[in-house]
Amino acid sequence: MHLIFIGAPGSGKGTQAEKLKDNRQYCHVSTGDLLRAEVAKVSELGIRIKSLIDEGSLVDDRTVLDLFKNNLNLLENNYIIDGYPRTLEQCGMLDSELLAGTSYRAIYFQIDEEKVVDRIVNRRIAPKSGKIYNLMTDPPQNNGVCDISGEALVHRDDDKEEVVRNRLNIYKNSVSQILDYYRKQAKLLTLDASASPELVYKELINILR
Ligand code: AP5
Ligand code: MG
Repeated sequence: MHLIFIGAPGSGKGTQAEKLKDNRQYCHVSTGDLLRAEVAKVSELGIRIKSLIDEGSLVDDRTVLDLFKNNLNLLENNYIIDGYPRTLEQCGMLDSELLAGTSYRAIYFQIDEEKVVDRIVNRRIAPKSGKIYNLMTDPPQNNGVCDISGEALVHRDDDKEEVVRNRLNIYKNSVSQILDYYRKQAKLLTLDASASPELVYKELINILR
Protein backbone atom coordinates (compact mmCIF):
# COMPACT_ATOMS: atom_id res chain seq x y z
CA MET A 1 0.00 0.00 0.00
CA HIS A 2 1.28 3.48 -0.90
CA LEU A 3 1.11 6.41 1.53
CA ILE A 4 0.55 10.05 0.61
CA PHE A 5 1.89 12.51 3.22
CA ILE A 6 -0.04 15.79 3.34
CA GLY A 7 0.95 18.61 5.70
CA ALA A 8 2.20 22.15 6.09
CA PRO A 9 5.82 23.05 5.41
CA GLY A 10 7.74 21.89 8.49
CA SER A 11 5.00 19.57 9.75
CA GLY A 12 7.52 16.70 9.72
CA LYS A 13 6.63 14.81 6.53
CA GLY A 14 10.27 14.26 5.53
CA THR A 15 11.38 13.37 9.06
CA GLN A 16 8.69 10.71 9.47
CA ALA A 17 9.13 9.39 5.93
CA GLU A 18 12.82 8.73 6.59
CA LYS A 19 11.99 6.83 9.83
CA LEU A 20 9.20 4.77 8.26
CA LYS A 21 11.19 4.02 5.13
CA ASP A 22 14.03 2.46 7.13
CA ASN A 23 11.76 0.38 9.38
CA ARG A 24 9.04 -0.72 6.97
CA GLN A 25 10.69 -1.05 3.55
CA TYR A 26 9.08 1.85 1.78
CA CYS A 27 10.67 4.01 -0.91
CA HIS A 28 10.48 7.70 -0.01
CA VAL A 29 9.83 10.11 -2.86
CA SER A 30 9.51 13.83 -2.13
CA THR A 31 8.61 16.16 -4.99
CA GLY A 32 10.54 18.93 -3.19
CA ASP A 33 13.70 16.75 -3.14
CA LEU A 34 13.24 15.80 -6.81
CA LEU A 35 12.85 19.45 -7.77
CA ARG A 36 15.90 20.51 -5.71
CA ALA A 37 17.94 17.73 -7.37
CA GLU A 38 16.93 19.14 -10.77
CA VAL A 39 17.97 22.64 -9.65
CA ALA A 40 21.34 21.28 -8.49
CA LYS A 41 21.98 19.87 -12.00
CA VAL A 42 21.65 23.41 -13.40
CA SER A 43 19.61 21.86 -16.25
CA GLU A 44 17.30 23.99 -18.40
CA LEU A 45 14.38 22.78 -16.28
CA GLY A 46 16.35 23.36 -13.07
CA ILE A 47 17.08 26.98 -13.97
CA ARG A 48 13.40 27.57 -14.81
CA ILE A 49 12.09 26.18 -11.52
CA LYS A 50 14.73 27.58 -9.16
CA SER A 51 13.18 31.02 -8.90
CA LEU A 52 9.72 29.53 -8.24
CA ILE A 53 11.00 27.36 -5.39
CA ASP A 54 13.10 30.17 -3.91
CA GLU A 55 10.09 32.49 -3.70
CA GLY A 56 7.91 29.68 -2.28
CA SER A 57 5.59 29.35 -5.28
CA LEU A 58 4.36 26.05 -6.70
CA VAL A 59 5.95 24.56 -9.79
CA ASP A 60 3.40 23.83 -12.55
CA ASP A 61 1.38 20.62 -12.28
CA ARG A 62 2.60 18.97 -15.49
CA THR A 63 6.30 19.49 -14.75
CA VAL A 64 5.96 18.03 -11.26
CA LEU A 65 3.97 15.02 -12.43
CA ASP A 66 6.43 14.19 -15.24
CA LEU A 67 9.40 14.45 -12.89
CA PHE A 68 7.57 12.32 -10.37
CA LYS A 69 6.59 9.63 -12.91
CA ASN A 70 10.20 9.27 -14.08
CA ASN A 71 11.31 8.39 -10.58
CA LEU A 72 8.73 5.73 -9.66
CA ASN A 73 8.12 2.06 -10.16
CA LEU A 74 4.73 1.64 -8.53
CA LEU A 75 4.38 -2.02 -9.42
CA GLU A 76 7.55 -3.10 -7.66
CA ASN A 77 7.71 -0.83 -4.61
CA ASN A 78 5.52 0.67 -1.91
CA TYR A 79 5.99 4.43 -1.81
CA ILE A 80 5.75 7.23 0.69
CA ILE A 81 4.67 10.13 -1.53
CA ASP A 82 5.78 13.27 0.30
CA GLY A 83 4.57 16.74 -0.71
CA TYR A 84 2.40 15.62 -3.60
CA PRO A 85 -0.40 16.42 -4.48
CA ARG A 86 -0.67 20.12 -3.49
CA THR A 87 -3.62 21.18 -5.60
CA LEU A 88 -6.98 19.61 -6.39
CA GLU A 89 -5.84 19.28 -10.00
CA GLN A 90 -2.77 17.32 -8.86
CA CYS A 91 -5.06 14.97 -6.86
CA GLY A 92 -6.94 14.11 -10.06
CA MET A 93 -3.77 13.76 -12.14
CA LEU A 94 -2.13 11.50 -9.59
CA ASP A 95 -5.17 9.22 -9.47
CA SER A 96 -5.79 9.04 -13.19
CA GLU A 97 -2.18 8.83 -14.40
CA LEU A 98 -0.47 6.86 -11.65
CA LEU A 99 -2.42 5.47 -8.71
CA ALA A 100 -5.46 4.03 -10.54
CA GLY A 101 -5.85 0.42 -9.47
CA THR A 102 -3.33 0.65 -6.61
CA SER A 103 -4.09 0.69 -2.90
CA TYR A 104 -3.16 3.83 -0.94
CA ARG A 105 -3.97 6.02 2.06
CA ALA A 106 -3.47 9.77 2.60
CA ILE A 107 -1.97 10.78 5.97
CA TYR A 108 -2.63 14.34 7.13
CA PHE A 109 0.02 15.87 9.45
CA GLN A 110 -2.10 18.29 11.48
CA ILE A 111 -0.23 21.15 13.24
CA ASP A 112 -0.56 24.86 14.16
CA GLU A 113 1.07 27.22 11.72
CA GLU A 114 3.17 29.09 14.29
CA LYS A 115 4.95 25.91 15.40
CA VAL A 116 6.25 25.16 11.94
CA VAL A 117 8.00 28.49 11.33
CA ASP A 118 10.44 27.91 14.22
CA ARG A 119 11.09 24.39 13.04
CA ILE A 120 11.84 25.45 9.50
CA VAL A 121 14.19 28.35 10.13
CA ASN A 122 16.32 26.02 12.28
CA ARG A 123 16.29 23.14 9.79
CA ARG A 124 19.47 21.93 8.09
CA ILE A 125 19.49 19.09 5.59
CA ALA A 126 22.02 16.61 4.22
CA PRO A 127 21.03 16.26 0.55
CA LYS A 128 22.91 12.98 -0.10
CA SER A 129 22.03 10.99 3.03
CA GLY A 130 18.54 12.55 3.25
CA LYS A 131 18.98 13.15 7.00
CA ILE A 132 17.07 16.17 8.35
CA TYR A 133 18.45 18.09 11.36
CA ASN A 134 17.19 20.88 13.57
CA LEU A 135 19.74 23.20 15.20
CA MET A 136 17.55 23.59 18.31
CA THR A 137 16.01 20.16 18.81
CA ASP A 138 18.05 17.67 16.79
CA PRO A 139 21.52 19.07 15.97
CA PRO A 140 24.34 17.08 14.33
CA GLN A 141 27.17 15.81 16.55
CA ASN A 142 29.70 18.00 14.73
CA ASN A 143 28.69 21.50 13.78
CA GLY A 144 27.55 21.79 10.14
CA VAL A 145 28.36 18.18 9.19
CA CYS A 146 26.06 15.18 8.63
CA ASP A 147 26.53 12.36 11.18
CA ILE A 148 25.93 9.70 8.54
CA SER A 149 27.67 10.91 5.39
CA GLY A 150 30.07 13.59 6.63
CA GLU A 151 28.73 15.98 3.95
CA ALA A 152 28.23 19.69 4.70
CA LEU A 153 24.70 20.53 5.87
CA VAL A 154 22.59 22.88 3.77
CA HIS A 155 20.16 25.64 4.72
CA ARG A 156 17.47 25.57 2.03
CA ASP A 157 17.09 28.85 0.13
CA ASP A 158 13.31 28.69 0.69
CA ASP A 159 13.68 28.30 4.47
CA LYS A 160 13.94 32.04 5.16
CA GLU A 161 11.07 33.29 7.30
CA GLU A 162 9.45 35.53 4.62
CA VAL A 163 9.49 32.68 2.08
CA VAL A 164 8.12 30.25 4.67
CA ARG A 165 5.15 32.60 5.22
CA ASN A 166 4.45 32.57 1.48
CA ARG A 167 4.67 28.76 1.37
CA LEU A 168 2.25 28.57 4.30
CA ASN A 169 -0.26 30.87 2.58
CA ILE A 170 -0.21 28.76 -0.56
CA TYR A 171 -0.65 25.63 1.54
CA LYS A 172 -3.60 27.12 3.46
CA ASN A 173 -5.36 28.03 0.20
CA SER A 174 -5.46 24.47 -1.07
CA VAL A 175 -5.25 22.04 1.83
CA SER A 176 -8.95 21.84 2.68
CA GLN A 177 -9.84 20.86 -0.90
CA ILE A 178 -7.19 18.15 -0.85
CA LEU A 179 -8.36 16.79 2.49
CA ASP A 180 -11.98 16.75 1.25
CA TYR A 181 -10.91 14.87 -1.86
CA TYR A 182 -9.41 12.02 0.18
CA ARG A 183 -12.06 12.16 2.91
CA LYS A 184 -14.80 11.55 0.33
CA GLN A 185 -12.98 8.44 -0.81
CA ALA A 186 -12.53 7.28 2.82
CA LYS A 187 -8.76 7.26 2.31
CA LEU A 188 -7.84 10.00 4.82
CA LEU A 189 -6.07 9.35 8.14
CA THR A 190 -5.08 12.23 10.47
CA LEU A 191 -2.28 12.46 13.04
CA ASP A 192 -1.18 15.09 15.56
CA ALA A 193 2.11 16.35 14.11
CA SER A 194 2.83 18.79 16.96
CA ALA A 195 4.20 16.14 19.34
CA SER A 196 7.85 15.01 19.48
CA PRO A 197 9.18 13.08 16.45
CA GLU A 198 9.13 9.85 18.51
CA LEU A 199 5.47 10.28 19.52
CA VAL A 200 4.42 11.22 16.01
CA TYR A 201 6.12 8.09 14.72
CA LYS A 202 4.28 5.95 17.29
CA GLU A 203 0.96 7.45 16.22
CA LEU A 204 1.84 6.89 12.57
CA ILE A 205 2.52 3.19 13.19
CA ASN A 206 -0.75 2.93 15.15
CA ILE A 207 -2.96 4.49 12.49
CA LEU A 208 -1.40 2.29 9.81
CA ARG A 209 -2.46 -0.87 11.67
P1 AP5 B 1 9.05 20.60 -0.06
O1 AP5 B 1 10.48 20.33 -0.03
O2 AP5 B 1 8.12 19.45 -0.13
O3 AP5 B 1 8.67 21.53 1.17
P2 AP5 B 1 7.36 21.62 2.10
O4 AP5 B 1 6.16 20.89 1.67
O5 AP5 B 1 7.20 23.05 2.31
O6 AP5 B 1 7.72 20.78 3.33
P3 AP5 B 1 9.06 20.81 4.13
O7 AP5 B 1 10.06 19.91 3.46
O8 AP5 B 1 9.48 22.23 4.37
O9 AP5 B 1 8.59 20.23 5.53
P4 AP5 B 1 8.47 18.76 6.08
O10 AP5 B 1 7.05 18.53 6.44
O11 AP5 B 1 9.14 17.76 5.19
O12 AP5 B 1 9.29 18.92 7.44
P5 AP5 B 1 10.66 18.23 7.94
O13 AP5 B 1 10.44 16.79 8.23
O14 AP5 B 1 11.81 18.60 7.05
O15 AP5 B 1 8.72 21.58 -1.31
C1 AP5 B 1 9.54 22.69 -1.56
C2 AP5 B 1 9.07 23.47 -2.78
O16 AP5 B 1 9.08 22.61 -3.94
C3 AP5 B 1 7.62 24.00 -2.73
O17 AP5 B 1 7.54 25.23 -2.02
C4 AP5 B 1 7.34 24.17 -4.23
O18 AP5 B 1 7.98 25.29 -4.75
C5 AP5 B 1 7.99 22.93 -4.82
N1 AP5 B 1 7.08 21.78 -4.85
C6 AP5 B 1 7.19 20.64 -4.10
N2 AP5 B 1 6.20 19.80 -4.36
C7 AP5 B 1 5.41 20.41 -5.29
C8 AP5 B 1 4.20 20.05 -5.93
N3 AP5 B 1 3.59 18.89 -5.67
N4 AP5 B 1 3.65 20.92 -6.82
C9 AP5 B 1 4.26 22.08 -7.09
N5 AP5 B 1 5.41 22.50 -6.50
C10 AP5 B 1 5.97 21.66 -5.61
O19 AP5 B 1 10.83 18.97 9.36
C11 AP5 B 1 11.07 20.37 9.44
C12 AP5 B 1 11.97 20.68 10.65
O20 AP5 B 1 11.27 20.36 11.84
C13 AP5 B 1 13.29 19.88 10.69
O21 AP5 B 1 14.30 20.69 11.22
C14 AP5 B 1 12.97 18.72 11.64
O22 AP5 B 1 14.14 18.28 12.33
C15 AP5 B 1 11.97 19.37 12.59
N6 AP5 B 1 10.94 18.44 13.06
C16 AP5 B 1 10.32 17.47 12.34
N7 AP5 B 1 9.39 16.83 13.09
C17 AP5 B 1 9.42 17.45 14.31
C18 AP5 B 1 8.68 17.26 15.52
N8 AP5 B 1 7.74 16.30 15.62
N9 AP5 B 1 8.96 18.06 16.57
C19 AP5 B 1 9.92 19.02 16.48
N10 AP5 B 1 10.66 19.24 15.37
C20 AP5 B 1 10.41 18.46 14.29
MG1 MG C 1 10.17 17.86 3.35
